[in-house]
Amino acid sequence: MKKSARTATLCRLMITCFALFGGVASAGAAEPIKVGALLPYSGVFAALGVEIADALELGFDTFGREVGGREIVVIREDTEGKPSVGLSKAKKLVLRDGVDFLVGPVSSEVAGALRDFVHRSRVPLIIANAGNNHLTGKLCSPYVIRVSFSNAQINRDMGPWMVSRGFERVYLMAADYAAGRQMMEAFRTSFIAAGGTVAGEEYAPLATRDFGPYLGKLKAARPDAAYVFFPGAAAMAFVPQYEGFGLKETIQLAGAGWLSSAFNIERQGAAAAGFIGALNYVPSIDSPENRAFQDAFQARFGRVGSEFAVQGYDSARLIVEALRGTGGSTEQIIEAIHEVSFVGPRGELRIDPLTNNVIQDIYVFETRTVGDRIEQVVIDTFVDVRDPPNGCRL
Ligand code: PHB
Repeated sequence: MKKSARTATLCRLMITCFALFGGVASAGAAEPIKVGALLPYSGVFAALGVEIADALELGFDTFGREVGGREIVVIREDTEGKPSVGLSKAKKLVLRDGVDFLVGPVSSEVAGALRDFVHRSRVPLIIANAGNNHLTGKLCSPYVIRVSFSNAQINRDMGPWMVSRGFERVYLMAADYAAGRQMMEAFRTSFIAAGGTVAGEEYAPLATRDFGPYLGKLKAARPDAAYVFFPGAAAMAFVPQYEGFGLKETIQLAGAGWLSSAFNIERQGAAAAGFIGALNYVPSIDSPENRAFQDAFQARFGRVGSEFAVQGYDSARLIVEALRGTGGSTEQIIEAIHEVSFVGPRGELRIDPLTNNVIQDIYVFETRTVGDRIEQVVIDTFVDVRDPPNGCRL
């Protein structure tokens, strides 16, 4: 090849490299670290996505917008809560925007759709909500790290707990999709093993807002308690209807804590009182870290920070602390993530190197009217809850 042709080829290669790797080769440490906030900003989970994204920004402002001379910038993309949309937005963020991290999604089904692409692209996905057990179980990947919870992790210990409190016949009810099914499976397995009896089991489509037919069946079964999972707007609708059906006084309402969490409790009001739930965070946790978080979140957004907010805030902290460990490089970032542990608003937190799922405390709370306020009062704590590997080999 002639010298001029060689030079032209080299130039083209350099331009391609520059485009592909976002100019890292020449711009060096000045290149920003890009974080794709891959969350639902529309659709059934919109409010949850906004809450996580808001707190993610707060987290970067709190823990560091710059590491090793590189600024952290967030690019938002809307999954709409739909698996196919989530996957195409993930591809856009990775292949077009060149993000260094993905943070999200909310739905277990969207997370399932992202898994193979994330694994192949090797861009770390920090799961800030979706509890899909398989992503830190049989479908685990070095590049899928979960800071939120697994569906089993929240519910598994509640089976024996309910039996120990005298709730021996329990009716299960949940949203009919991956998360609802996995949560009920975790509860059912440990509940039966502890001597409990399932009085009935019903699944309602995620879009259900009229629970009348389901509540009728529940009433007829006359269980000691109902163990329920509904997220977001479905939870908002379910709780007042449970009271309206006259069930609250006779059948204990319990379940995965999102049914009546910080996120919807104000709007549910007195109908929520008496609910017993399990969750990885309640705003009433009495610690300096939680007070600092709530003060900052409330000052900026004018509302109480929920469990979704804490997951966004902790995702930012995990990213910043891991990057500090590597001096701002994304090389060896997975190893650096495994080295991170901190006490955040929800308590102590670290990533299990066997599964990449978070190890954390799970709180059992009762929703009570305290003075003129309604709040979650912690009545028990499962300490340092970690999932078994469930077929994961990292
Ligand atoms: C999920 O789909 O994994 C999910 C969604 C919303 C929640 C909890 C879990 O509140």
